Amino acid sequence: MTVQPLTSPSSVSHAATVITPSSDVKPWAGLIETYRPYLPVSEKTPVVTLLEGNTPLIPVPYISQQVGKGVKVFVKYDGLNPTGSFKDRGMTMAISKAKEDGAKAVICASTGNTSAAAAAYARRAGMRAFVIIPDGYVALGKLAQALLYGAEVIAVEGNFDDALTVVKQMAENYPVTLVNSVNPYRLEGQKTAAFEVVDVLGNAPDWLCIPVGNAGNISAYWMGFCQYHSLGKTDKLPKMMGFQAAGAAPFIAGQPVAKPETLATAIRIGNPANWDKAWGAKDASQGEFNAVTDEEILKAYRLLAAHEGVFCEPASAASVAGLLKVKEQVPAESTVVCVLTGNGLKDPDCAIEHSNNQVISGIQPELSKVAQVMGF
Ligand code: F0G
Repeated sequence: MTVQPLTSPSSVSHAATVITPSSDVKPWAGLIETYRPYLPVSEKTPVVTLLEGNTPLIPVPYISQQVGKGVKVFVKYDGLNPTGSFKDRGMTMAISKAKEDGAKAVICASTGNTSAAAAAYARRAGMRAFVIIPDGYVALGKLAQALLYGAEVIAVEGNFDDALTVVKQMAENYPVTLVNSVNPYRLEGQKTAAFEVVDVLGNAPDWLCIPVGNAGNISAYWMGFCQYHSLGKTDKLPKMMGFQAAGAAPFIAGQPVAKPETLATAIRIGNPANWDKAWGAKDASQGEFNAVTDEEILKAYRLLAAHEGVFCEPASAASVAGLLKVKEQVPAESTVVCVLTGNGLKDPDCAIEHSNNQVISGIQPELSKVAQVMGF
């Protein structure tokens, strides 16, 4: 079935409605309104927002203890954005600018999260959303989102890199706006996560640990830190520590990987589009790229949930897996932020398959039976 374009009545404003607070608490107005002076928007830009951003920077004491040396570790939990990933930061900008330019349709290739965000924001803006995904390699929650938001989902028999090649060609030849992270407005929106980190800590952290796939987010964080640094809002810049899944690690190989493989499907990417930008961020910050195995990713994924109460998706856990892998290098007493890019609910199959626990079933609903199973 083809989904028809939505017509947005002219009376519908896409700007955030201003709510008059009953107390002196200032309601969050979304990241474009909050960081307007630092973003390429004007009064004419129709702001398409779901009030994304303002995600928590959560201290993780168990992980801090594992690192030791008085190191303070925080996670930037971007899985709490409206569609459950950091992509909303980029999409509020990309869709607002597409709307400003009169676009009627957008397109993206995606391992899942970009498609969910593109679909939500595009449909809210009255546009068609086309998403091209690698068949069989998108987590269930993400697929569910794209479909329900009303995207037109096309699964190709290839990987993310093949899908990205096709959507670039589509955008060159047809009236559809590309909203992958090669669209510069995406990175502009995503850089606000770095602003938020500095706004909360009062300075940049010493290290920023981040999963790397298409390499847009590491580039965006670096842009954000540098912009805040030039404005005097932070007096230091972090080392950018990028982590890739070992089976999909072109930055560690130093060249594209033809057949990327990892259970962290979000970062199952062999030919990152933002190669030069990410490399530049790593070099300029004296950072590093490192690989983590799927086993190390799963260990960090379980540890985050079971010890810290933070449920992220497997790709996100690569940042913590990476920190734990290279913890000897972390300077004593330093501050480290690990970016958790997506919500654990995105990939319920992985959680159930790789949890240490399982459901104890077949129990009669009687006090003695339940107590017995509980070991009382
Ligand atoms: N973490 C998650 C949960 C992701 O979905 C992605 C990318 C990344 C990390 C890597 O970020 O590409 O900027 O280096 N997901 C894209 C998508 C590719 O289609 O949703 P990156």
